[in-house]
Amino acid sequence: MKIMVTGGAGFIGSNYVHHHLEKFPEDEIVVLDKLTYAGRLANLEGVPEQRFSFVEADICDRETSRRTLDGCDAIVNFAAESHVDRSIEAPGEFITTDVFGTYVLLEAARDAGIRHLQISTDEVYGSIDEGSFTEASPIDPSSPYSASKAGGDMIVSAFNHTYGADSLTVRASNNYGPQQHPEKLIPLVILNAIHGDPIPVYGDGKQVRNWLFVRDFCTAIDAVLVNGQAGEVYNVGGPDEETNLDVVKAILALTGRDESLITYVEDRLGHDLRYSLSAAKTQALGWKAAVNFAQGIESTVAWYRDNPQWWQALRSGEYREYYERQYGVDLGA
Ligand code: NAD
Ligand code: DAU
Repeated sequence: MKIMVTGGAGFIGSNYVHHHLEKFPEDEIVVLDKLTYAGRLANLEGVPEQRFSFVEADICDRETSRRTLDGCDAIVNFAAESHVDRSIEAPGEFITTDVFGTYVLLEAARDAGIRHLQISTDEVYGSIDEGSFTEASPIDPSSPYSASKAGGDMIVSAFNHTYGADSLTVRASNNYGPQQHPEKLIPLVILNAIHGDPIPVYGDGKQVRNWLFVRDFCTAIDAVLVNGQAGEVYNVGGPDEETNLDVVKAILALTGRDESLITYVEDRLGHDLRYSLSAAKTQALGWKAAVNFAQGIESTVAWYRDNPQWWQALRSGEYREYYERQYGVDLGA
């Protein structure tokens, strides 16, 4: 199989490329990625070159997307603007990439007669106080990010319903692991803890997320890509739910830092309190998470500690400016 992986230079996409090429020695991957602030070629270092190629392009560029698709058997679409806080600051790019870009890829896949697997999020369901969302739960997104992802999901479903396209969706809970951009909670806390800098916790820190180790998500994607039914949605929830405060405390303990670094800051606008997914439908395809939160967070902290060259370059430039805008304080040295 040859797969076009869009957004493959980002966090989950790059983990997926490494995972898939390791697990399937006959397969080939072409990554198409715009290399926004979140996309980095460094994330793809070490992939087997004879089975890998890279095209720098925007998924909204029809011609290049179609040309790149030539000879592929499937698209796995990770390309998106992915950070909720940035969507609150400036929603436009989210709607362009996450909605229009998804449409461009769907049309290209339909015309080529190949499968389009959309990578989506639990955030499209909104917040849930008790129990877990299933695939039958109503869509009720809260942020410009989740609304744009929900728009993409609806077009995926419409292409199947209207044209009989081979399109389907996975919705995952919060991923964490190596190569995640430090704008997101877990890498932000790890790097601030390593540097002894204050840890910004939004509101009271009692929000709950359903953590999924990124390599477990990669195995779920392969299960759905190969065995999922066109037109269906598959939820991929992690094995553990944690409050943000407990996540921060776990990282402080692993980095040997004191809880006095915790700094309560103004809450995120429209902040969803709790996410929780039932993964039963994906588990029925034979998938199961292999890594629990205690194991995954320990290995993730170790990865950031052992790979300073990966994050040092990020702590200058765009991320530094973003951090100062978002938190109103300078990022440490
Ligand atoms: P990321 O921000 O780390 O990576 C996004 C990648 O997409 C980057 O490489 C970026 O350069 C690329 N990209 C952005 N706009 C593009 C465009 N117009 N054309 C081509 N490439 C473009 O994101 P991530 O955390 O790896 O998330 C990947 C996907 O998984 C997203 O669709 C996201 O909505 C979804 N998702 C993420 C999580 C999570 O916890 N991170 C959970 C569920 C679902
Ligand atoms: O649930 C899946 C989603 O998970 C994905 O679709 C998104 O792409 C991904 O970014 C992630 O969204 P969240 O908003 O849940 O992740 P984030 O890491 O931004 O925040 C996790 C929680 O931590 C959330 O409740 C907000 C809180 N937080 C975050 C940051 C960056 C803080 O308290 N302080 C912070 O500085």
